[in-house]
Amino acid sequence: MSEAAEDLMEPAPEKEVESPLDQEQQDLLLATHIVRAVDVRRTYYRGGQPLHALRGIRFSVKRGEYVSIMGPSGSGKTTLFNMIGGLDKPNEGQVFIDEVNIAALSSFELAWLRCHKIGYIFQTFNLIPVASALDNVMIPMFFAGMTQADAQEKAAGLLKKVGLGDRIFHKPVQMSGGQQQRVAVARALANSPAIILADEPTGNLDIHTGHRIIELLREINETDGVTVVTATHDHKMLSVSDRIAWIRDGLVERMQNRDELQIEEGHADVIR
Ligand SMILES: Nc1ncnc2c1ncn2[C@@H]1O[C@H](COP(=O)(O)OP(=O)(O)O)[C@@H](O)[C@H]1O
Ligand SMILES: [Mg+2]
Repeated sequence: MSEAAEDLMEPAPEKEVESPLDQEQQDLLLATHIVRAVDVRRTYYRGGQPLHALRGIRFSVKRGEYVSIMGPSGSGKTTLFNMIGGLDKPNEGQVFIDEVNIAALSSFELAWLRCHKIGYIFQTFNLIPVASALDNVMIPMFFAGMTQADAQEKAAGLLKKVGLGDRIFHKPVQMSGGQQQRVAVARALANSPAIILADEPTGNLDIHTGHRIIELLREINETDGVTVVTATHDHKMLSVSDRIAWIRDGLVERMQNRDELQIEEGHADVIR
């Protein structure tokens, strides 16, 4: 792509408008955003050719929200997740978690933030196959410095919460996909995170099992106040989301509230 063509795709610069809010009100407003991505760009190079996976993403999530990032395969969902989760760094732009610019953190501080603030759920569950469900859930607790006895008690409680109280000694190979993803949900909750990032959590599950995982995430969001951000191209996710970020070709095309969605599309497959 020519440089001129790329310039045309730049978002129009925003006009500087003086805020009518005083400093205290502005601080409060910022504090309600637990995740902010500001003009994030990420370019991969393949055989010397640039591939613009994220082309200036602006995206924020309020504390306690359930937000779905919807977009076709290849639109940049996982890349955005890796940025928000501190697993990869933008080429340009900033990511703030709880108003901390994660690029300013040392590797030790970043590891602390990832361990304590964020719970990760992946499409492929990513459990340790030879370890029991209980051990899988306990592992992040050891990284956080919890004692064996405390970790065991907490992990057993979390497995019970996700409906696996009678399977704590099963290994992933002895479990169905849905059960494995429940273990992954319990593991994501291990260190009582403020945010759960779930990248295509239903991608490897059948429709019914996928619904139940989504319901579980929504329940955790509502009862524990954990902020949930899911990436998906699964339309079942829409009805449980407070807001939906539609992304395409590395840009947020539009943000949509749940009520707008129901009016616009009159979704018949509302699951709650
Ligand atoms: N490590 C990588 N190296 C090169 N290209 C990549 C890499 N990861 C992702 N991409 C490319 O970036 C684009 C966005 O990918 P991704 O974020 O995985 O999309 P999604 O999760 O929405 O399917 C795709 O074109 C993909 O091929
Ligand atoms: Mg992906």
